[in-house]
Amino acid sequence: MVKIFSGIQPSGTLTLGNYLGAMKQFVELQDNNECYFCIVDQHAITVPQDPKELRKNIRSLAALYIAVGIDPVKSTLFIQSEVPAHAQLGWMMQCVSYIGELERMTQFKDKSAGKESVSAGLLTYPPLMVADILLYGTDIVPVGEDQKQHLELTRDLAERFNKKYKEIFTIPEISIPKVGARIMSLQEPTKKMSKSDANTKAFVSMLDSEKQIEKKIKSAVTDSDGIVKYDPVNKPGVSNLLTIYSSCSGQSIGALEDQYAGKGYGEFKADVAAAVVETLKPIQEKYFDLIESAKLDDYLNLGAEKANAVATKMLKKAENAMGLGRKRR
Ligand code: AQP
Repeated sequence: MVKIFSGIQPSGTLTLGNYLGAMKQFVELQDNNECYFCIVDQHAITVPQDPKELRKNIRSLAALYIAVGIDPVKSTLFIQSEVPAHAQLGWMMQCVSYIGELERMTQFKDKSAGKESVSAGLLTYPPLMVADILLYGTDIVPVGEDQKQHLELTRDLAERFNKKYKEIFTIPEISIPKVGARIMSLQEPTKKMSKSDANTKAFVSMLDSEKQIEKKIKSAVTDSDGIVKYDPVNKPGVSNLLTIYSSCSGQSIGALEDQYAGKGYGEFKADVAAAVVETLKPIQEKYFDLIESAKLDDYLNLGAEKANAVATKMLKKAENAMGLGRKRR
């Protein structure tokens, strides 16, 4: 069976970008594959987090995974910090990587830009992500476009390790959706939509109410020419709304351009908002059923048990290959 791994940081309430870029693919993939979905809380602490908020976000993310359609019995749904092999192999992968290649990561550059000081973890977290993926013999990693560079690093480090020590790691492929791979900020449409954006008008949260969604889409930055046309360079705001609409409704961008030809942005934006509401409503209903339930803990306990069993085996192989500890029989 093809093995799939992907992770999401509990660094805030998930956005429509996280859903359309990543989660939507997860659901489609889980039927015929062996899937591992992770709440990567150790990645989240590379930037400051309030401990109480972090705990809340971890639980919320777990409930959202299930609410979008992940089956926690069929797939393995777990919290990264509950599987110690991630941090252990993460350290080993740090020792296989070079500072120069980590400094070249655009996400590190973006997140450290203009900051007086940043944590060492912000620089060294890509090797932890490498470990997350390699522990499960992953064949395919479904992610949004922003993770492409980290996936290239994963392939490089896996190849480097296999060549230097022993052929133990599978070299994973990336899977990026055709539409929705990069949902942009509603306020600065040349920038990626992010859950940690200080401007809450810039993103639609997966738990926003109908009213909040309508308000945010209505105030989304567009342009003054009033033409609904896909042109990301000259019309990034309208193009972003078209991508969101297409991804939520399943209609092609071309069909939507035809449908709104000669109509202004008012009707278009109202329909985009309606499509987003329709997409998120059933997810929110399932989420609120789950969030306080003991069932959620049972699923996470099961996930931690299954993930630990697989990850520990791969960790032992990697330690043996590197010569760490004593030889195990
Ligand atoms: N705007 C986006 N469009 C499409 N895909 C996106 N993803 C994130 N933003 C978009 C995809 O969601 C998955 C989980 O991402 P993450 O939370 O682990 O980290 P991130 O990419 O850094 O997401 P955020 O929302 O921007 O988080 P913060 O603000 O904490 O940094 C990944 O597959 C990602 O590609």
